Amino acid sequence: MRQLFRLNEIVEKKELAPRIKEIKVYNPRIAAKARAGQFVIVKVGEEGERIPLTIADWDREKGLITIVFQEVGVSTYKLGRLGVGDVITDVVGPLGNPSEIEKFGTVVCVGGGVGIAAIYPMAKELKKAGNRVISIIGARNKDLLIYEEEMRRVSDELRITTDDGSKGRKGFVSDELRDLLNSGLKVDRVIAVGPAIMMKTCADVTRPFNVKTIVSLNSLMLCGMGMCGACRVEVGGKTRFVCVDGPDFDAHQVNFDVLIKRLNAYKAEEQLALKRFLEVKA
Ligand SMILES: Cc1cc2nc3c(=O)[nH]c(=O)nc-3n(C[C@H](O)[C@H](O)[C@H](O)COP(=O)(O)OP(=O)(O)OC[C@H]3O[C@@H](n4cnc5c(N)ncnc54)[C@H](O)[C@@H]3O)c2cc1C
Ligand code: FES
Repeated sequence: MRQLFRLNEIVEKKELAPRIKEIKVYNPRIAAKARAGQFVIVKVGEEGERIPLTIADWDREKGLITIVFQEVGVSTYKLGRLGVGDVITDVVGPLGNPSEIEKFGTVVCVGGGVGIAAIYPMAKELKKAGNRVISIIGARNKDLLIYEEEMRRVSDELRITTDDGSKGRKGFVSDELRDLLNSGLKVDRVIAVGPAIMMKTCADVTRPFNVKTIVSLNSLMLCGMGMCGACRVEVGGKTRFVCVDGPDFDAHQVNFDVLIKRLNAYKAEEQLALKRFLEVKA
């Protein structure tokens, strides 16, 4: 039988928001094994950089995986320029440990920015496992808010925040989380995925309530196999590798200051590389 798509071919592409794209990629082996919380490492071009991106969804029958990414630097811009019918040079995965999915009771899923797409499969599986899922999603403004309908479908209750108040509550997802916990509702677990500062704030919010909180860390990565140490973070005073020990960790044990410092370590070089890339490709 004729194979419909080539391996790693982009079969669908959507712009979800300015500079945030969703692609569906044909890779039956990854689609067959993917589980919530796992990621792939993608390389565009033989000389391309390897970048980690969460598997936002999968269709085992069609052999497709969904990736949602924000164009922030050279590699994500390169990926964003590929269209339907183009083949991604390398897609390796599924990598990382799957998220812990059990019947916990009431789970609050907090997603910020592009992190909403990463928390979506977790919310979906937690709902399937019988949990009451309350989701809080937020973005800088309504135009940047993604996966609202997807999250509504897998949540018993969906709360929205925007920094500028253009949709939902004006403020941060962590403000909504704080109010929810202050309301006295019994929450058995919180899961937060988004920018490091958002996850840090969520951890600070839940700590006094003693609610187990999980975050999916987005450290810099190279090998994705526990060999290079690029993704190292400090958790509970020990060095852990996000690619093989994570990406999910107990938020109350993570040293976010170290993570944020490491994420910013190459900012100047990254900005220069993007400036050069955009000048050449303009
Ligand atoms: C396990 C894991 C899963 C991820 N899943 C997704 C995903 O589903 N969708 C998505 O858009 N991104 C995701 N990321 C982040 C993504 O890998 C980076 O945005 C990407 O590597 C940036 O590469 P670049 O060359 O485009 O930009 P670079 O030139 O490397 O960086 C440009 C700027 O982006 C920011 N940045 C770089 N790396 C990260 C990072 N790891 N986290 C946050 N900000 C960063 C910095 O501010 C930097 O200055 C994930 C990261 C990890 C570790
Ligand atoms: S990315 Fe190399 S050890 Fe994790």
